[in-house]
Amino acid sequence: MAFPPSFLDEIRSHVSLASVIGRSVRLTKKGREHLGLCPFHNEKSPSFTVNEDKGFYHCFGCGAHGDVITFEMQTHHLSFPEAVERLAAEAGLDVPVQAPEERVRAKQAASLYDVMDKACAFFERELHGTVGRAGLEYLRRRGLSDETIARFRLGFSPDARTALKTALRQAGLPESLAIEAGLLIVPEGGGESYDRFRGRVMFPITDRRGRIIAFGGRILSDGQPKYLNSPDTPLFHKGSVLYGLAQAREPAAQAGTVIVCEGYMDVIALCRAGFGHAVAPLGTAITEQQIELLWRMADEPIICLDGDAAGQRAAGKAALRALPLLKPGYSLRFAAVPAPEDPDSLIAAEGPAAMQRVLDQARPLSEVLWQQELAGHAIDTPERRAALEHDLMEKVSLIADKAVQDQYRSYFRSLLWETFRPPRPAKPAFRPFGGPGRGDLLRSRGHRLVDRGADGRLPGAGRPPTLPPAWLSQERLLLLMVILHPVLLEEVAERLGNLRFKDSDLDKLRQEALKHLDGWGSLDSEDVQCHLRSCGFSQILDCLLEARAHDQSAHIKPDAPVEAARALWEDAFKLYTEKDLTAELQQAEQQAALNMSDETFGYLNALWSTKIRGGDV
Ligand code: GTP
Ligand code: MN
Repeated sequence: MAFPPSFLDEIRSHVSLASVIGRSVRLTKKGREHLGLCPFHNEKSPSFTVNEDKGFYHCFGCGAHGDVITFEMQTHHLSFPEAVERLAAEAGLDVPVQAPEERVRAKQAASLYDVMDKACAFFERELHGTVGRAGLEYLRRRGLSDETIARFRLGFSPDARTALKTALRQAGLPESLAIEAGLLIVPEGGGESYDRFRGRVMFPITDRRGRIIAFGGRILSDGQPKYLNSPDTPLFHKGSVLYGLAQAREPAAQAGTVIVCEGYMDVIALCRAGFGHAVAPLGTAITEQQIELLWRMADEPIICLDGDAAGQRAAGKAALRALPLLKPGYSLRFAAVPAPEDPDSLIAAEGPAAMQRVLDQARPLSEVLWQQELAGHAIDTPERRAALEHDLMEKVSLIADKAVQDQYRSYFRSLLWETFRPPRPAKPAFRPFGGPGRGDLLRSRGHRLVDRGADGRLPGAGRPPTLPPAWLSQERLLLLMVILHPVLLEEVAERLGNLRFKDSDLDKLRQEALKHLDGWGSLDSEDVQCHLRSCGFSQILDCLLEARAHDQSAHIKPDAPVEAARALWEDAFKLYTEKDLTAELQQAEQQAALNMSDETFGYLNALWSTKIRGGDV
């Protein structure tokens, strides 16, 4: 409903901003403003200001800003009209109804709600009467207490053609209204209308505010359909409703999350087990509107569907549907109840702790997407890998938010890199390249790395890997090439001798290799390696040889032509020294900008000419 701006102003002037905020934030007056701890972010010293005159609040810490209506919306998780109505009621103001047709619609809606509520009361009465005994026994058999039955207003529809119709007529409600509300069915070929729900346990479905807008009816036996839902009506559009939403709002705000499960009975079972923050779509795939509704309750709702194939397909669909809607800070998480259970049966069999474990294992949307795609692709040839990459990037392009899209792209790129990289060698006992291996570091931080199964497939996702620094691969290459091809050592000894490696272990090896050449002339790789081992460099040498698998030197076998090794060495040297030169040049230029002495000038000149000669000092 659109509110006239004058009415909104009236609310703002009737309701004291400081007193509304003062209910949840301790404010102290400071000059013309009030000051307090910001309710929208965690802080220790107050940066949240309330300006009563201007009618707005502002947080200098997190930038939260708004008026009394936005404050109500955010702190109580209300929609705009809901917040307006709540404040209007508080101020004793009547919410105006604008256009005449809107007034008619509002009135009609009001009476539709009325019919629904009367029907609900009727079903509840029947459940506790003789007609409903089978229904009540059914619910008790499923473990529901009277309190739960009352709380969810469960009921029973008698197995008769016109039981509800008669009851509504007696209550003075027109038949046409009951038809419009979807409670009565008019036969296609004409004739008397009759009750839609017959012989079923009734689950009332409410809107966000708890007003009944539809019903779901469960058959007692094994008949079909198991659940019968109200048709779409002016009150009910099943794609934009979540079962249990009204009751889940407060618990969700407290828990900081909301659980999405498959069915009515799951919501009820979860609630009984202490998970009041549970909702369910109505037997259909999760829609965009439902995702938006969920995001009004929590930043990262947990989609907790059954672990069977159908449930997992539905989870996959929800993941895809969420992509275009993602925005910074908002996403979905996914948990799966192990098949063949659903939350209801899991809690019955193993208790709330088992359910909590399932929720604790919820995985982020990004990871689920990655695993989904990986599971759907063979990756044993370049073309198939390209297909995986292509399909992933296609998913990424569905994300409308630029910032989130960028993050997803680099996340997937990193995982692809990690996945397609040649397998790592067995873990060496000693690591010359800066302490524990990267894998160990990641694992020790609780990260999972990709491990290959027997079929060479990758079951899971890892964290985005970080590339080894370029200088490290270059240092390795510069050494490896001369150890595999000692002929080269003679050619490059002078240049290698002028370098100082950043990795201290590698630098020791560099010095030893050069020393070896000086003292002893064998140009056979085996001999050189043997010598290095005898000098205590065994482990570091092993690591170097193993690391070969990951460098561009991979294709260099000990018996490869020396030309190939020389080219690699020259490339690595150029890259390695160019980096150094560039950094040095930058520094020298900065210094020169401050003070261009003769000395600085000479130094700069030398650097420049070295650079022009391609790093060949
Ligand atoms: P119980 O068998 O009573 O435990 O129900 P459940 O909630 O476990 O149902 P199930 O897992 O079979 O289905 C999940 C949800 O899908 C239900 O809660 C309904 O919302 C919906 N659903 C299931 N069967 C039907 C059906 O036959 N028709 C319609 N419209 N919806 C159904
Ligand atoms: Mn079930």
